[in-house]
Amino acid sequence: MPGGEVGRREVGGREAGAGLGPRGRGLFGRLLQGLRSSAPPRREGVTIAVASGKGGTGKSFLATSLAVLIHRTGKRTAVIDCDFGLACDHLLLGVKPTITLQQLVQGQATLDQALCVSPCGPRLLPGASGVRRMANMSDKELLVFARELGEMAGREDALVLDLGAGIAPATILSMLCADWIVLVTQPEIAALVDAYAVVKCVAQIDPKARFLVVVNRVPEPGRGRLAFDKLTEVARQHVGVQLEYLGEIVEDGSVTQHRLGQLPLVATEPDAPLSIGLQQMQERLAEYCGGFEQRVVEAEDGIESRFKRHRLFL
Ligand SMILES: Nc1ncnc2c1ncn2[C@@H]1O[C@H](COP(=O)(O)OP(=O)(O)OP(=O)(O)O)[C@@H](O)[C@H]1O
Ligand SMILES: [Mg+2]
Repeated sequence: MPGGEVGRREVGGREAGAGLGPRGRGLFGRLLQGLRSSAPPRREGVTIAVASGKGGTGKSFLATSLAVLIHRTGKRTAVIDCDFGLACDHLLLGVKPTITLQQLVQGQATLDQALCVSPCGPRLLPGASGVRRMANMSDKELLVFARELGEMAGREDALVLDLGAGIAPATILSMLCADWIVLVTQPEIAALVDAYAVVKCVAQIDPKARFLVVVNRVPEPGRGRLAFDKLTEVARQHVGVQLEYLGEIVEDGSVTQHRLGQLPLVATEPDAPLSIGLQQMQERLAEYCGGFEQRVVEAEDGIESRFKRHRLFL
């Protein structure tokens, strides 16, 4: 049931380092102590990572649609295109960026120079497209990315991270630092197997990671729940993770026919059944997240610190 409050996961509890033995945990504890800062508590919005195992399940479509719908409720909302090197959210949000995450992490641009305001309202930190080296960011670049994540979380009520498919280190890292992981799958067995692989990889590092599953492109209503039941049973049995069901989205020709560069369907056709379904999904997501509000977090529990900490274990 929706309604879980957005509390940060424990610091140094069962998150990074949870799978270590006693010596490792001792070392980890000392390391963590070294990382604890005397910085004051800060305010941060809710971070949602939209992820999948298999590619092309509809993450970017869902991430941009949800961001538009969250923004429409009056919340400060931003999308970060974390499909490193293969970004496309600017096309889905009708933005033509000149500066991307690439220039930002390479120190050639500031966050304010890279951020765009999309015509539908949410801000977008665009990613680079067709840039191989962004798919394999250096540690220095990851640290800059972590800092900018922290900066953005401090500005927004909701931060939507649109991830690349699969289990690349920077993708797993982005899931680990988010408050919630929206895992987008399709009802076919191949997509469910890959979705399970993501749950397994993340849960090995953070058994408390919180997954909300969306089954996209279902051929008929009800198929999403059946697919979810299979996935959650396997995840419960094999990795002891309880998944939550955020809902299904039916296969809809209007999504595929929508031209790149046009504004999202939820903006151009808000009364279409698909848009109404997405609106209801946004409302359930808000319930799970306890609303999209900034809350006070200790500096070491902030997204930047979580990102940096988890980075040590990948
Ligand atoms: N419910 C739907 N009905 C029909 N087509 C859909 C639906 N959802 C997504 N699509 C289509 O599926 C394709 C892939 O969607 P999208 O780019 O959002 O996936 P993705 O998971 O972000 O892909 P990648 O893994 O490459 O980042 C697009 O052509 C999109 O229009
Ligand atoms: Mg995508």
